[in-house]
Amino acid sequence: MVLEKILNKESKIGIIGLGYVGLPIALEFARKVKVVGFDINAERVEMMKNNVDPSEELESKDFEGCDITFTHKLEDLSDVNFFIVAVPTPIDEYNQPNLRPLLGASTTVGKVLKKGDYVVFESTVYPGCTEDDCIPVLEEHSGLKFIEDFKVGYSPERINPGDKEHTITKILKVVSGCDDESLDVISKIYELIIEPGVHRASSIKVAEAAKIIENTQRDLNIALMNELSIIFNR
Ligand SMILES: NC(=O)c1ccc[n+]([C@@H]2O[C@H](COP(=O)([O-])OP(=O)(O)OC[C@H]3O[C@@H](n4cnc5c(N)ncnc54)[C@H](O)[C@@H]3O)[C@@H](O)[C@H]2O)c1
Repeated sequence: MVLEKILNKESKIGIIGLGYVGLPIALEFARKVKVVGFDINAERVEMMKNNVDPSEELESKDFEGCDITFTHKLEDLSDVNFFIVAVPTPIDEYNQPNLRPLLGASTTVGKVLKKGDYVVFESTVYPGCTEDDCIPVLEEHSGLKFIEDFKVGYSPERINPGDKEHTITKILKVVSGCDDESLDVISKIYELIIEPGVHRASSIKVAEAAKIIENTQRDLNIALMNELSIIFNR
């Protein structure tokens, strides 16, 4: 039902957090369906309204032909039925995850969440974070019940910072849902924009773990090549 409404442009996809990850996704979806781009930073929102990417990755022409409303106002999310959260997940001075932006975004979504809606988290998190930390906040602020009233999924963003060749639409997307129905809807939504298609992970925790494995492997590869470079230079 939500999928059909989005395809018929009777309902919108909402992207929460329009940074390095969120803005490109928002613009890609906005070439196919109606999108609301929400960010708490009013200054950044104003720049995007003028076709300027505050992260300095995209050009003004990338905003052309997009059906998107940029906003920092909660009320503009009222006709969104499919939310994608792409806010930062930094670490604190003790290397512990700082979940403040993620829980803040979950609060925002919770306040406008309706029966039948879907929420997909894209921020990099540890396995269990979506179910143990984010979903209770969605339930608390919406007064709705997870699965019975709304569904949740997790789909990590896999782009490499600085890679201009393998951009968002060209990388196979790992997606997950809280049940078979949500996995199907979430997959079909992403298949609208992802050229190589999606990999349907068996659970939210598996999709969260896939991202951690990938980042760890990339860091190890970089560290190994740095070590070899030092050794060979000697
Ligand atoms: N940058 C990358 O290459 C990359 C790659 C893969 C995954 N990721 C992950 O994607 C997530 C987003 O990272 P990013 O690089 O896009 O961050 P970013 O710092 O570029 O942008 C984040 C945006 O979210 C906004 N924001 C912060 N709190 C908010 C809230 N409560 N509600 C609404 N908007 C809010 C900020 O104003 C900013 O515009 C992180 O979890 C990151 O680890 C990043």
